[in-house]
Amino acid sequence: MKVLLIGSGGREHALAWKLAESPRLTKLYAAPGNPGMEKTARLAPLEATDLGEIVAFAARESVDLVVVGPEAPLALGLADRLKEEGIPCFGPGAKGALLESSKKFAKDFMTRHGIPTAAYRAFASNGDAKRYIGSLPKEPIVIKADGLAQGKGVVVAENLEDALAALDAMMSGRFGEAGREVVVEECMTGEEVSLLTFTDGKTILPMLPVQDHKRVGEGDTGPNTGGMGTYAPVSAFSPEVAEEVDARILRPLQNALRQEDLDYRGCLYIGLMLTPEGPKVVEFNARFGDPETQVLMPLLKTDLLDVAYACAKGDLAGQTLEWRPEKAVCVVMASSGYPGEYLTGYSIREKSVSEDLTQNSWVFHAGTARNAQGELVTAGGRVLGVAARGKTLEEALARSYGRVESVEFEGRVFRRDIAHREMKRQ
Ligand code: AMP
Ligand code: GLY
Repeated sequence: MKVLLIGSGGREHALAWKLAESPRLTKLYAAPGNPGMEKTARLAPLEATDLGEIVAFAARESVDLVVVGPEAPLALGLADRLKEEGIPCFGPGAKGALLESSKKFAKDFMTRHGIPTAAYRAFASNGDAKRYIGSLPKEPIVIKADGLAQGKGVVVAENLEDALAALDAMMSGRFGEAGREVVVEECMTGEEVSLLTFTDGKTILPMLPVQDHKRVGEGDTGPNTGGMGTYAPVSAFSPEVAEEVDARILRPLQNALRQEDLDYRGCLYIGLMLTPEGPKVVEFNARFGDPETQVLMPLLKTDLLDVAYACAKGDLAGQTLEWRPEKAVCVVMASSGYPGEYLTGYSIREKSVSEDLTQNSWVFHAGTARNAQGELVTAGGRVLGVAARGKTLEEALARSYGRVESVEFEGRVFRRDIAHREMKRQ
């Protein structure tokens, strides 16, 4: 089978690595891909959001399956365009992608189907939103821009003043269309877990629970980022919690997808909070998580191509997922300054950035590029994700951090406390 993978981050590198293991794969293309995928894929210099070019490329190369990494092309309707051409796609159409691209759509959807989530109200008028925020009995208050805002659309405001400032900033036009409407939410507390699922719109198969570390600084301090590291599985997601999530979230969600005919084929990422009142949904994403994927792929035994193709063809019923009985971690190496401003173009030195002969650790590229001389250089905020697996969490951590130490570039920063909650629980 010929597969076209869309995207260029660490998530896509991990997907490419896993797809390349499949005996059914005959050719892998990545558009635009990154230098980490040079050995496994043919890189096609197409923008992920250039739908016309992507559809034309897929048709020209007789691609059997398109796997979409990022949310932007999904929200623009890439899967719908591919469907018109009869090309199977792993990734929902624009309507299904609304679960991520419109917070209001997602919240209303959950309410319609009784899926537990934070209490909320949506507003298109700044004045109405202000009056409502002023009437709330307690802080903190959560304010969210309705649309896609590159991870900057959520503010957990500690007090009324910050909440009003966040509201003004969002509705000022700085986020364009994304801030035209806002959602004001009750603040939940508890352990956060990313539960990614495979679905064909009729059947939902959950993957292992993962925990991300969103804040840039150790001890979960500083601004939010795309994710500074992950580990899996998460012991706080106990068999009892899993059962509750299945009964109160996954089953209602499966019925909701069927009833609303969203034709959702791909990864549905459920951001969960394990609150004192039980698990609730924080958000949905219409795609794999980054860096969640970098720990899930090394633990997944099942052929990813089989599952992705089954999702795309609507044949997921009867499929099962097999996991290695091990632990995995991913430590993100970022550019100093991230998630604010940072410099790029620094050369990356490692004795073994690409290979791991023991097959227990991986350096997944995220923000890397080749300069004019063909050398590997930094090209983004999150530069590399160093993932490792082991029989124990300690073993996985030692492998990952050992490898992190061998990778050098100017201004490299990373958190030294990935999996700190799990280590404390042990
Ligand atoms: P999101 O962009 O929706 O993933 O939100 C980013 C982060 O904001 C989440 O990972 C949570 O840590 C936090 N957050 C979002 N909504 C809430 C909420 N209702 N209560 C508490 N924290 C929240
Ligand atoms: N790691 C969080 C996300 O992918 O949205």
